[in-house]
Amino acid sequence: MSVHKEIKKVTTHVLQEMKQRGEKISMLTAYDYTMAKIIDNSGIDVILVGDSASNVMAGHETTLPITLDQMIYHASSVIRAIDRALVVVDLPFGAYQANSKEALNSAIRIMKESGAHAVKLEGGREIKESIERILTAGIPVMGHLGLTPQSIYKFGTYTVRAKEADEAERLIEDAKLLEQFGCFALVLEKIPADLAEKVSKNLHIPVIGIGAGGGVDGQVLVTHDMLGMTHEFNPRFLRRYLNLYESMGNAFKQYIKDVKSKDFPNEKEQY
Ligand code: KIV
Repeated sequence: MSVHKEIKKVTTHVLQEMKQRGEKISMLTAYDYTMAKIIDNSGIDVILVGDSASNVMAGHETTLPITLDQMIYHASSVIRAIDRALVVVDLPFGAYQANSKEALNSAIRIMKESGAHAVKLEGGREIKESIERILTAGIPVMGHLGLTPQSIYKFGTYTVRAKEADEAERLIEDAKLLEQFGCFALVLEKIPADLAEKVSKNLHIPVIGIGAGGGVDGQVLVTHDMLGMTHEFNPRFLRRYLNLYESMGNAFKQYIKDVKSKDFPNEKEQY
């Protein structure tokens, strides 16, 4: 008889409890099975199948080109690897902006075809109907305010958002509204730390920051950035835990050398 160790899965309710007891929430991105397996086994709370896959995996300049089908492919690969983490999937650009019915259909496709646990949408009051309609189908929604990369062509830059009082005020109001609409959590990207802390203190739902300081309820980073696999993206908020760009490059160079010199394979590495 095999004995299975009970793994306590992270749910939206668990995240709420973590906020209440002041335990910080850890979140990282993943887009494929192997990376998701390593991250989940390390004990992460939330895995985000971010539309940053458009940049990181496909090499696009923005997040706009990635499609719903591609997000579902990434999400289903991640889901097959997961034992514990809550998996949240970005609704990509063009999959929810037209109307709330389209938003609901996109969210249903993600949940049904990938097995994910929740979806994330960028925006505030302007996507009220979409959020509420998705929630009526029982699909948990995470909000995203501050720097919203799907609107890059509206803003023109990736600089810090909500530095001016009127934009900060609007962000505070939007955050409150997202909570009222029923979002279970909120991502705040690249805004001043004191503003992010104020939002977090004003809300009952967990606030997860990226470039939003330490006064929020959790942190998210793009995994390929924190592992140092990407090397041209150097924002102040990014802490690199490894320099994989260099160490992987060295491994590849060594392999090429070994093949060329006929050092690989040796006698023990053949049949
Ligand atoms: O797509 C993504 O990776 C994200 C995070 C930066 C929050 O939305």
